[in-house]
Amino acid sequence: MMPTQSKKRLLITGVSGLLGNSLALHFRNIYTVYGQYNYHPVQIDGVVTLPADLTDADQVATLLEDLQPNIVIHCASLANVDECESRPQAAIEINTTATGRVATVTRKQGAQLVYISTDSVYADSLNSHRENKRLNPQNVYGQTKYDGEQQALINTDCLVLRTNFFGYNIRDKHSLAEWIIARLSSKEMIHGFTDAFFSTIYTMELARVIEIALQRKLSGIFNCGSPTPCSKFEFAQKLARRFGYPEKLILPGSIDDHSLKAKRAKNLGMDVSRLEKALNYPMPDLEFSIESFFRDSVSKTRRPMRRAPSGAGAREFIPYGCQSINSRDIAAVTTVLTSPWITQGPAITAFEKKLAHRCGARYAVAVNSGTAGLHIACLAAGIEPGDEVITSPNTFVASANCVVYCGGRPIFADIDARSYNISPDTIAGKLSARTRAIIPVHFAGQSCDMEAIAKLSRSAYSRFGKKLRIIEDGCHALGSEHRGAPVGACTYSDMTVMSFHPVKHITTGEGGAVLTNDEELYHRLIRMRSHGITSDPEALQRNECAFESATTDGRPMQRTWYYEQQELGFNYRITDIQCALGISQLERLDHFRQKRRGIVRAYNEAFGSSSVIQVPYESGHCNSNFHLYVLQFDYNKIGLSRPEFMEQLQQHGIQTQVHYIPVHTQPYYQQNFGYRWGDFPIAEAYYQQCLSIPSLSSNEQG
Ligand SMILES: Cc1ncc(COP(=O)(O)O)c(C=O)c1O
Repeated sequence: MMPTQSKKRLLITGVSGLLGNSLALHFRNIYTVYGQYNYHPVQIDGVVTLPADLTDADQVATLLEDLQPNIVIHCASLANVDECESRPQAAIEINTTATGRVATVTRKQGAQLVYISTDSVYADSLNSHRENKRLNPQNVYGQTKYDGEQQALINTDCLVLRTNFFGYNIRDKHSLAEWIIARLSSKEMIHGFTDAFFSTIYTMELARVIEIALQRKLSGIFNCGSPTPCSKFEFAQKLARRFGYPEKLILPGSIDDHSLKAKRAKNLGMDVSRLEKALNYPMPDLEFSIESFFRDSVSKTRRPMRRAPSGAGAREFIPYGCQSINSRDIAAVTTVLTSPWITQGPAITAFEKKLAHRCGARYAVAVNSGTAGLHIACLAAGIEPGDEVITSPNTFVASANCVVYCGGRPIFADIDARSYNISPDTIAGKLSARTRAIIPVHFAGQSCDMEAIAKLSRSAYSRFGKKLRIIEDGCHALGSEHRGAPVGACTYSDMTVMSFHPVKHITTGEGGAVLTNDEELYHRLIRMRSHGITSDPEALQRNECAFESATTDGRPMQRTWYYEQQELGFNYRITDIQCALGISQLERLDHFRQKRRGIVRAYNEAFGSSSVIQVPYESGHCNSNFHLYVLQFDYNKIGLSRPEFMEQLQQHGIQTQVHYIPVHTQPYYQQNFGYRWGDFPIAEAYYQQCLSIPSLSSNEQG
């Protein structure tokens, strides 16, 4: 059999751009393709797309080290000519400095580099531009791309293509050709410049040229476009003809009639003969490019599908919370996927150790959701039918459901109006001989008054003679600190439960964990997460069954298959795949925390003095991770109902959410436990006004 050769790895930077997405579609059948984006997540079948900020040297290094590409096509740039003029520093960073970084790392890695430059490096001239001419770029865009060329050439195995292209965007915006067609199709008149010339090429044809150049390992600087330049007016006419729209809708115009911010050369036509010779390939003329563009207007494989990425990647808007996955996370997951263990393997133990260490607890037991964690914590705490457990009404239903799973009764205690956390004063009035545990919820990341709660539990013990368990619901609070110690250290509690749902600080997809310092609880949690089973020789009830009584040489032989189900447990196991992600994410926890706190500072400054907004309070004992940033609005003063207000924010790309509908008002709790509206007035009043706004940036990488 012929040995199978693994495909080369190609990284396309700027994959969400006009050229980047076309290259991804073209090359996905040839190479293993990765696509980098910054602000605009995109999904392309058969391509792994990842976020990275190329203006951040560490992120460039991490991306390239993780992916180890054989080839990089560097398309990422600030390509809006007028924007470059008003943001020259940004243009330098993206077009020039970032290119230098990519070139430096790829040179070290021995990777081929293709730098997509532009015809804007040229100034006006009577004839088509040739590569060897002295250049005099007319605007910041042209200059920064020209400087980018010099940077790209740090990698001696680099091909620089000066080009101009048209094609289909994957994002919801129009390239020049798409704009022309959209206008013509709605019978609108447009102006086409008769005095602006270019040698434009269809992106999918450009992809083909790059494919050939890569095969030939071509390096150096080349013009790349259609062999016969034409004016933008003629370009629009040719498009109209091919797409069957009346040419009379296109009026001749002059670039001089438009006051554009950046100065532009009128003749950007290029002589492409040098590239044709080097590749022994005739460059497609404009008619050919347009024909190809027209045919692809109905193609499913050569034209990008505009669809919102699933999950939180779908971000032309800012979600109130969502995961941030980088190339390191992806590499960690793929490593486990190709290892012998995808579940019940070493990544789980490694994650548990790191999590316990990060939280300052002795043990961590990872499970497949925060809810599962709460359930086994209640079981380990010995909650049984008839027991009462006190918790907050201002939480997700899981904090109370876990009690019901065990046959217990959730007893709600109203919240503190400032912290929105369960108030020790109201807990005091709910303690009874039936109380078995308290589940304080660190809402939004703010830790509860744990000293007061621990004191109450001790006083209940002396009053009723029963030891109360404290289970912290820390699902919002990984990364928060309470009096300088991490939430999860269980200083005042028996156990703390975390969730790794994608909106939380770190994610494992779904997932959760229980932290504890108590060895006995730890062993019980381990059993309950897996059917109540143990095979630990020291924990076996029938130790004799674990060994063969008679062996030929008289040596005791272990029955390696032996296990015991000692109580009724569940399959709440997490996988190694998830834990690999968890380990990688945990390394970024401090970064996430800092980013959110930075955003919160800015919000507090912006809204702190408003008469219609109440900003969140952070108590002196807490250093919150700000999992949620909850504002209280006076909707009457705003003059909009909450749904109307949310809808308006949504239209501005800002997703908001309500945390939480008080649990006691849920039909299930009213029907089964007799709770009513009015039972917990502070939580209810808070609910009427609250709204969580995004507390992460739209591009939370790092
Ligand atoms: C306070 C709180 N507790 C528990 C949970 C349950 O966590 P999971 O979704 O991981 O089951 C959540 C989930 O959002 C939560 O917000």
